Amino acid sequence: MMTGKVTTPRLSFGPEVTPYSAYARIDALHALQRPRTGVSAERSFVVATQVMELLFGLLRHEWTQAQQALRADDLDGAAGALRHALNTQDVLAGSWDLLATLTPMEFGSFRDELGEASGFQSYAYRYLEFLLGNKSAAMLAPYIGMPEVHTGLTVALGSPSLYDDVLAVLHRRGLPIPLSHLDRDWTRPYEPHAEVQKAWQIVYTSPGYGDLMELAELLLDTAERAIRWRQRHLTAVRRAMGAKPGTGGSSGLSWLRRAAEQDLFPELWTVRDEL
Ligand code: HEM
Repeated sequence: MMTGKVTTPRLSFGPEVTPYSAYARIDALHALQRPRTGVSAERSFVVATQVMELLFGLLRHEWTQAQQALRADDLDGAAGALRHALNTQDVLAGSWDLLATLTPMEFGSFRDELGEASGFQSYAYRYLEFLLGNKSAAMLAPYIGMPEVHTGLTVALGSPSLYDDVLAVLHRRGLPIPLSHLDRDWTRPYEPHAEVQKAWQIVYTSPGYGDLMELAELLLDTAERAIRWRQRHLTAVRRAMGAKPGTGGSSGLSWLRRAAEQDLFPELWTVRDEL
C-alpha cells in the first residue's frame, strides 16, 4: 500500500510556456495539422500521414543503429536495435486504424486538395525501402529539387542494406557467402543466390550459430511487419478509393500490388524448403 503525502504537480509557470511544450515542441506540433476542408476525415488523414512519417524517421534511426552494430560485429547490439524497431513497426502498421473507416465519399470530399501529393513521394519511406534492400535509382528522381534529401538518398542507394550487412557478418564468421554478395554495386536490387541459402542452412542446422539464427529470425520478424504495413496500405486504398488512379500518377491499386510483392531477405524464406 502507498503511504506518504500526495503532492499535485506544479500548476503555475507564470508567463512562460510549460516546460512540456518547450521540450517536445508541442505548439509547433499542433500547428502542423492544417486540413484544407471542414471534413473531419481529412483531419484523420493528415494526422495518420504525419504520425507515419515520424515513425518512418524513427525506424530509419533504429535500423541504422542495427546496421552500425552489425558492421562492428556487435550482434547483441544489432539484435537489441532490431527488437526495438519491431515495436515501432507494430505501431506503424497499427496506425492504419486511423483510416480504417474512411469511405470513398469521405476521401472523395478532400482528395482534390491533395493535387498531385502522394505518399509515394515520401523520402523517409524510400530510405526504409533502401535499407530493406529494395533499391531503385529511379526513385531518386522526385528529389532533384531537394538537394539534401537527394544526396542522403543517393548515399543510401549506394550503401549495403541491412541484409547485405548481415551477410558480411556471416562471411566474417567463416560461412560461405559468395564474393558477388560481399562486394557489389549496392545500387542494384538484391539478387538471391544458392550459396547464400546454403550458408543460412548451416546457420539453422549446425551447432555454434545460435546468435546468427536469432538474427535471422529477427530479420523475418522485421520483414513480416514491413509486409504487413504494405498490405494494410493496400487494403486502406482499396476501401477508400477502389481501383481508381492514384494522386501520384500511378494506376493505383495495381501498381501498389506489384510494389507490395517485393521480396525481402529472399534466402531466409527459401531456406525453409530445406529445413
Ligand atoms: C486511404 C488513404 C490513402 C490512399 C487512397 C493512398 C493511395 C496511394 C496510391 C494510389 C499510391 C501509389 C502512388 C500514387 O499513384 O499515388 C500510394 C503510394 C504510397 N503511399 Fe499511400 N495512400 C493512402 C494513405 C497513405 C498514408 C497515410 C501514408 C503514410 C505516409 C501513405 C504512404 C504511401 C507510400 C509510402 C507510398 C509509396 C509505396 C511504395 O513505393 O511502395 N499512404 N498511396
